[in-house]
Amino acid sequence: MFHDIPDSIKKRMVYLEGLDKQDRVDGTTRMERLRQIPPETGKFISLLAASAPNGEFLEIGTSAGYSALWIALACQLKGNKLITFEILKEKALLARETFTLTNLQNIVELIEGDARDYISNYKNISFCFLDAEKEVYDECYDLIIPNMLKGGILVADNAINHYETLKPMLDKALADERVDALIVPIGKGELVCRKI
Ligand SMILES: C[S@@+](CC[C@H](N)C(=O)[O-])C[C@H]1O[C@@H](n2cnc3c(N)ncnc32)[C@H](O)[C@@H]1O
Repeated sequence: MFHDIPDSIKKRMVYLEGLDKQDRVDGTTRMERLRQIPPETGKFISLLAASAPNGEFLEIGTSAGYSALWIALACQLKGNKLITFEILKEKALLARETFTLTNLQNIVELIEGDARDYISNYKNISFCFLDAEKEVYDECYDLIIPNMLKGGILVADNAINHYETLKPMLDKALADERVDALIVPIGKGELVCRKI
């Protein structure tokens, strides 16, 4: 997956990494910032997605589509589609540009709206990357886990840099007998849950 990333995807990744870096220093407001995962987290979720069983791949929090590009590498390998949700119009516009420029329109479906209104439509979730506002993590977790296939993988970002805010949800996941879970110290900290 990582040795032959198509040039159009590599080029867009580099472009978005530059935009994200710029955002963090030029006074762009928090809501406007892309707030992307770092590349090592991209590789991590790509590997986990490639190891997930066949089923529906979801992403909650697209921003400009950077993390979706990493998950799309696994989709290309497995012949899967990714459904990704973004609530903000401006970010969804940028994400559409990302998926057009990288020729991923047939692999990535972008749904503009609040992911919470859609998650229960998917009954065979095999991979989900959760990277939205921290206030919705708990609700998303409760919607995703019952609809996840055996062996399915949920990854939630910011488990270390937003540990205090996410603690109730993290504690719930770590004690949840429906999943095996741990927090991995990569990037901003990833909660990884595998459905039993
Ligand atoms: C941290 S950013 C996502 C970064 C992206 N995953 C990446 O690494 O390239 C969080 C995004 O989630 C979006 N978001 C927040 N709450 C949402 C919700 N309930 N449904 C869909 N998108 C949401 C925000 O607008 C924002 O663009």
